[in-house]
Amino acid sequence: MNITHTRVITFSPTHTSLRVATAVARAWQDLPNDILDLTCRQLKSPIRLANDCLAIVSVPVYAGRVAPLALTRLKNVLGDATPAILIATYGNRDYEDALVELRDVLTTQGFLPLAAGAFIGEHSYSRPGMPIAEGRPDAEDCAKAEAFGREARRKGESVGTLTPFFIKGNVPYRTVGTPTPQAPVWQEDDCTGCGTCINSCPTMSIRMTDDGEVLTEPSTCIKCCACVKSCPTGALTFDTPYTAMLHAKCSARREPELFL
Ligand SMILES: Cc1cc2nc3c(=O)[nH]c(=O)nc-3n(C[C@H](O)[C@H](O)[C@H](O)COP(=O)(O)O)c2cc1C
Repeated sequence: MNITHTRVITFSPTHTSLRVATAVARAWQDLPNDILDLTCRQLKSPIRLANDCLAIVSVPVYAGRVAPLALTRLKNVLGDATPAILIATYGNRDYEDALVELRDVLTTQGFLPLAAGAFIGEHSYSRPGMPIAEGRPDAEDCAKAEAFGREARRKGESVGTLTPFFIKGNVPYRTVGTPTPQAPVWQEDDCTGCGTCINSCPTMSIRMTDDGEVLTEPSTCIKCCACVKSCPTGALTFDTPYTAMLHAKCSARREPELFL
């Protein structure tokens, strides 16, 4: 394999998938690198990555699968026997079938998996007083991500042809029910009207009325909590019983799982 440059490709509403991918990419910091962030962007026409590019594809886990909008955004990213590192970032509960799903989708789109990893990121529903994997990926996770990148690089340099390898997860993938529409709650008294929430929303579901009221369209909200976490004054919250449940049941620290 002759890699001349790397490209991080991500969908990452609360930035944890992006941070993990950036740490993995450090293993190739002697080569040119760029980032294709699809969080708030749908490519209008397909791009095809050549096989001298290493793709580092990092997406969040929603309900044990790849976040659906990440798959939609990835549809226009094609490979041409392009090596890829696959990363699923999850909120310390479980990643179930997300990594095998990512493998299958990217393989169909022309990529050749080189390595895969499940990493832990602060849960989208984590909040002050009820933390879930708060602050992750932390320095230890990022060091592991970089070491994983170095190991993947060694593998890429030592094998002539990439062949399938074990990745944890099941096919058929777990079934996910239809989500119930819900949107974050806005507290007028805490809002400064800065508009950060509007710009952070991957589905453009948030708008501000002429009176300064912030409204979110529940039917298109994907509950990613980008708006909640980007609000500088905490004026948005996402109320779900999952927060307390995950805080109670998923507090034991999980560690990254790596497949090469
Ligand atoms: C709708 C939704 C479903 C989620 N499902 C899971 C899950 O099944 N398992 C898990 O551990 N974390 C789950 N999470 C948490 C995210 O995977 C986690 O916070 C991830 O780090 C978010 O990535 P991002 O920062 O790149 O957006 C879910 C989050 C959301 C918003």
